[in-house]
Amino acid sequence: MISRNDPCWCGSGKKWKKCHAPLKEQLDFNAFQRLYLKKYQIHLKTPNQIQKIRASCLLAASILKKICAKAKAGVTTDELNSYAMELHQEADAIPACLNYGTPPYPKAICTSLNEVICHGIPNSRPLEEGDILNIDVSCILDGFYGDTSAMVCIGEISEEKKRVVNISYTSLMHAIKILKPKLLVKEIGQVIEDYASKHGCSVVNQFVGHGVGLEFHEAPQIPHHYNTVSIPLAQGMIFTIEPMINAGVKEGIVDPQDQWTVRTADGKPSAQWEHTVLITDKGCDILTLLPK
Ligand code: MF3
Ligand code: CO
Ligand code: CO
Repeated sequence: MISRNDPCWCGSGKKWKKCHAPLKEQLDFNAFQRLYLKKYQIHLKTPNQIQKIRASCLLAASILKKICAKAKAGVTTDELNSYAMELHQEADAIPACLNYGTPPYPKAICTSLNEVICHGIPNSRPLEEGDILNIDVSCILDGFYGDTSAMVCIGEISEEKKRVVNISYTSLMHAIKILKPKLLVKEIGQVIEDYASKHGCSVVNQFVGHGVGLEFHEAPQIPHHYNTVSIPLAQGMIFTIEPMINAGVKEGIVDPQDQWTVRTADGKPSAQWEHTVLITDKGCDILTLLPK
């Protein structure tokens, strides 16, 4: 083992500690990374990984924006899916959803309409005036993952639908505002459920946000409801927040046929928005936000 006062191995003639020895902060970060991995199975991302994940997140956001712009009355979700396929191919990316899980998810994006909470599968039904639609885009670019979703409203929508669309968006942004190192994971769900319940909506607890970047779904899970997860956030964590907010009961039922589509138990509307975020030294960066 080389010690700090030995001549550096590179032949510079300087002491190792003045030359190629890793900086103290670097050692601390490496030790911290190992601790998070061992204790929580969480990958704190390195600057190089962050750069790649950022690129994937920006691509997901730009694909999402383009698909949302095409979502109009008369257009089918299958057409939106084909467009998503094209956009991924153009960018040399792979849709993370395609063939994911069991049974293999059959399409490139999720399109969740009205009472569908999440994982709606694109089909031949044309969008209609009064629909609300969640479009969820997740990309693999150069092996790294980005994940984001947004709501589109088709023409005039009911007050009840407006409410879930707005409350899911605002609860997400309220949660993002509090993010910083040392915040506990449970404080995210606290902010979201406080806000949603104050406005008469319920929060889905069967699906959660998730670590993302090196894989599609990594540790930790990020519940959007009241919970007791006491993991402190740390610089270099990358995860999604994606609250699913219902007008009626929080319970969802998975379609027994396709085994993916999740609908509200009472048939009332549901809405969701999703961002991928990076914890920084002082707060967070929204990786799936497009520059203006
Ligand atoms: N994009 C979803 C998420 O936010 C996951 C969809 S998995 C799929 O985590 F297989 F349904 F596509
Ligand atoms: Co996600
Ligand atoms: Co998603």
